[in-house]
Amino acid sequence: MRDFFPGLAGIPAAKSSISFVDGEKGILEYRGVRIEDLAEHSSFLETTFLLLRNRLPTQLELENFTRDISHHRRIKYRIIDLLKSLPEHGHPMDALQAAVAALGMFYPAQEVLNEDTRYLTAVRLIAKLPTIVAAFARLRRGDEVIQPRDDLSYADNFLYMLTKRVPDPSLAKIFDVCLILHAEHTMNASTFSGMVTASTLADPYTVISSAIGTLKGPLHGGANEAVIHMLEEINSLDHIPMYLDHKLTNKEKVMGFGHRIYKVKDPRAIVMQGFAQQLDAHRETQSLFTLARAVEAHMESRVGPKGIRPNVDFYSGIIYHRMGIETDLFTPIFAMARVAGWLAHCFEQYQENHLFRPDQIYEGPHHRPYEPIETREPHSQ
Ligand code: ACO
Repeated sequence: MRDFFPGLAGIPAAKSSISFVDGEKGILEYRGVRIEDLAEHSSFLETTFLLLRNRLPTQLELENFTRDISHHRRIKYRIIDLLKSLPEHGHPMDALQAAVAALGMFYPAQEVLNEDTRYLTAVRLIAKLPTIVAAFARLRRGDEVIQPRDDLSYADNFLYMLTKRVPDPSLAKIFDVCLILHAEHTMNASTFSGMVTASTLADPYTVISSAIGTLKGPLHGGANEAVIHMLEEINSLDHIPMYLDHKLTNKEKVMGFGHRIYKVKDPRAIVMQGFAQQLDAHRETQSLFTLARAVEAHMESRVGPKGIRPNVDFYSGIIYHRMGIETDLFTPIFAMARVAGWLAHCFEQYQENHLFRPDQIYEGPHHRPYEPIETREPHSQ
C-alpha cells in the first residue's frame, strides 16, 4: 500500500518565503508582516510591492510603482471587443479569465526569467484586471465603458470605472483594505493551480488565467458570492436555526465557513467583520450583517468546537453588497487582489523551477480484451 493524501492535505509542495499562516493561532503574515499591520498602515499597491519584492518600498519606489500601474490601466479596444462578444448573462469570472488569456497574445512574455519582462508583465496584469472587470460589468448592462483615470488611486479608480462616480474616501479606504486582505494566502487551490502552470514555464498571463479559473469555484473564491445568496435565502432571523440545522444534518456545506488551515476564526474575517459593522451602523431594517452575525452565533454553537468558523469570504461579500456592487463581481474583485500573490508565487516558481508532476494510484483494470463493436452489450447509464 502506498500513502495517499486526498487533496494533498498537509503535503508541502514547495518552499516559499511569500506568506505564512498559523491556523491554530489565527496568524497571517505577508513577507513576515502581520496582515493587521498592513490593514492599518499600508495600501494595496504598497502591499503588492512588498509581496513582489520582499520588502516595503521607499517613498520614491512607491511613487514610481503607482505611476507605472496608473499608466498601464487602459485595455486595447480589441480586448473591449472581445468582452462585447461574450454573452452578457455569462459569469464575469469567465470573461476575466478569457480576457487575461487574450492579454498574453498582445503582450508576449515568454522570457520568464528576464527581470524587465517580469516587472512589466506584473504591472500590466495588476493595472488591467480592474479595467477588464469594470468594462465587462458595464458592457453587459448596455452601458459604455469608462476609461480609467490616472489621477485616481487604485481603489478610487476601480469604483469610478464601475459607477462613473468617485467614491466617498472612507468607502475607498475600506475597499482598499479588503484588497490587502485578499492579496495572498500561501498554498491555496488557485495559487497551486497557477504554480503548476508556471512550472511548465508558461508565461504569466497563462498562469494568471489558470489561477482565475480555479478561484471561481464555490469551495474557493466563489464562496463570497454564495454567502450572499445563502443570507438572502435565509431572509429572516427566525429561519436561521431551521435552515442551518437542515444543512448540517444533510452534511451540506455552509458557505463562508470552514478552512483547510484555520481552526480558529480567519484573521481576515475579523478585520472585515469590523468594516461590515461600520457600514451597517446607520441601517434600521434587518440587514445582511445582522443576519450574518446570527448565523455565525448559531454555527459556533453547532460546529465551532470542530474548528468550523467564518473564513475570509463570510464578511467580504456583505461589505461589497453594502457598497452596491453586484454579487457576481465579488469573486473577480478577489482575483484583482489575489493577482499580487499569484504573481509572487509564479516568479518564485520560475526561479527554483521543478515541473509539477504528481503520481496517482491506478485502480482500473489491466489486460482488458478489445471487444469488436458488433458484439458489445448496450449499457444502462
Ligand atoms: N459547513 C458545514 N460543515 C463543514 C464546513 C462548512 N462550511 N466545512 C467543513 N465542514 C465539515 C465537513 O462536513 C466535514 O465534516 P465530517 O468530518 O463530519 O465529515 C469536516 O468539516 C471536514 O470538512 P472537509 O470539507 O473535509 O474539510 P476541508 O479542509 O477540505 O474544507 C473547505 C475546507 C473546502 C473550505 C470547506 O470548509 C468548505 O467547503 N467550506 C465552505 C466553502 C467556503 O466557504 N469556501 C471558502 C474557503 S476560503 C477561500 O477559499 C478563500
